[in-house]
Amino acid sequence: MIDLQLTDKTHDEERQGEALVIDAPEVRNGRKLYIESYGCQMNFADSEIVASILKDQGFETTGDYHEADVVFINTCSIRENAEQRVRNRLSQFGAEKRRNPKLVVGVLGCMAERLKSKFLEEEKLVDMVVGPDAYRDLPQLISQVEDGHKAINVLLSREETYADISPVRLNGNGITAFISIMRGCDNMCSFCVVPFTRGRERSRDPHSILAEAQDLFDKGYKEVTLLGQNVDSYKWKGPDAEESAEIEVNFAQLLEKVALISSDLRIRFSTSHPKDITDEVLYAIAKYDNICNYIHLPVQSGSSRVLELMNRTYTREWYINRIDAIRRIIPGCAISSDIIAGFCTETEEEHQETLTMMDYVGYDFAFTFSYSERPGTLAARKLEDDVPEEVKKRRLAEILLKQQETSLFRLQQFVGKTVRILVEGTSKKSDKDLCGRNDQNAMVVFPATAGVKAGQYVNVHIDRCTSATLLGTIAVEVPEIV
Ligand code: SAH
Ligand code: SF4
Ligand code: F3S
Repeated sequence: MIDLQLTDKTHDEERQGEALVIDAPEVRNGRKLYIESYGCQMNFADSEIVASILKDQGFETTGDYHEADVVFINTCSIRENAEQRVRNRLSQFGAEKRRNPKLVVGVLGCMAERLKSKFLEEEKLVDMVVGPDAYRDLPQLISQVEDGHKAINVLLSREETYADISPVRLNGNGITAFISIMRGCDNMCSFCVVPFTRGRERSRDPHSILAEAQDLFDKGYKEVTLLGQNVDSYKWKGPDAEESAEIEVNFAQLLEKVALISSDLRIRFSTSHPKDITDEVLYAIAKYDNICNYIHLPVQSGSSRVLELMNRTYTREWYINRIDAIRRIIPGCAISSDIIAGFCTETEEEHQETLTMMDYVGYDFAFTFSYSERPGTLAARKLEDDVPEEVKKRRLAEILLKQQETSLFRLQQFVGKTVRILVEGTSKKSDKDLCGRNDQNAMVVFPATAGVKAGQYVNVHIDRCTSATLLGTIAVEVPEIV
């Protein structure tokens, strides 16, 4: 029998933003937190919130779980293999716990929210299960575990945005950082588990977003990525900075405000939704040099019938119209996508439509997935996962092959030209090389040069490329900047 300290509520019984009653646990210094993150950038950004909350409790972070007092695994549920990876990792933490029974093992994030108390039943070595809106409760939950109980809080909120929490930047390069601008998702794409694990969509107060971006810039950061499941539906209503008038801020306006912090601060954002991306957003990108010319606009499928079954609420024609608008308003803008192969009932012709869509757009990059049925989603309840595994695999391979060719073609356009990049640090493969991204988000690697260091903008002449990376040398003369 599991000793639950908080009621395990279901998604339908969401907390309506009321404050949690927490007895302030004692702050004890010198304890160590190890946190490992899976899934999307938002989960990684959440881990930085978690580290900040625990820092106030005297925890410092460690990169070695063997020396930790608390191990957190911030999980993802998006596809079955994402969950499997977490379970495998948990069994390794289990071995550590057998060696050190005092170790607190907590599961955070989307898998915690999806499985709730079932997690504690299935994984006996887990002490606590905490959903993405309950991180303020972590100090109290840790105390419960230390008192010998299992602890769980999976309440979802309609208001929590952690706006006032200043994230502890984990594993960062000191140059680029993520800023969450909203949480949750109100779209109900039929394949997707996110609305169930992250709850309702809510936008964060723009003043706190701007303050965070300014603070990062003051600390030497040169690039921020604004994060949300659907950034184009960002909408905030409330008092202005002087609290004298009511203002409404949409995503285009937010982008402009962040861009105005400094022309030396680059702005990126993810994810855009084809149904919501407006021309106003595109004009904002075109207007400011420091808003990067790169849009992640997941298509999922090139077939209108499949898109309807996916409940994406746009058609092939609508998507093409948005692509044409991007090409018209922001010439040279890079575009990337997410694509799912083998969604329920997808025919061979419909798969071909995805391939022809890829030809039409010529994506610079794409994340490609084989459809994985997720329990509780609309598709799992209403549609049959009837495309055989080997067909999904073959379709995915065709999509991947096409993308490799297109990525190579896109990168080849830069060869022989000079691009401006923000140096992020030494390259992963060799410390004799530096790396950074150009405006269009392509990774550029070049030999380290005296006087060039992370955080600088430099011009690099591109000599050659692979399908993933541009290779070049620092440009002395600047013939043509792309
Ligand atoms: N909010 C973003 C995507 C978030 S999830 C958007 O709307 O585009 C990231 C990607 O995972 C999705 O774009 C989709 O391509 C993929 N994905 C989500 N659920 C999936 C599933 N059940 N099977 C396979 N891929 C899935
Ligand atoms: Fe999932 Fe759709 Fe929301 Fe993206 S927009 S998180 S795919 S429900
Ligand atoms: Fe995964 Fe949750 Fe992100 S399911 S993709 S970690 S919102």
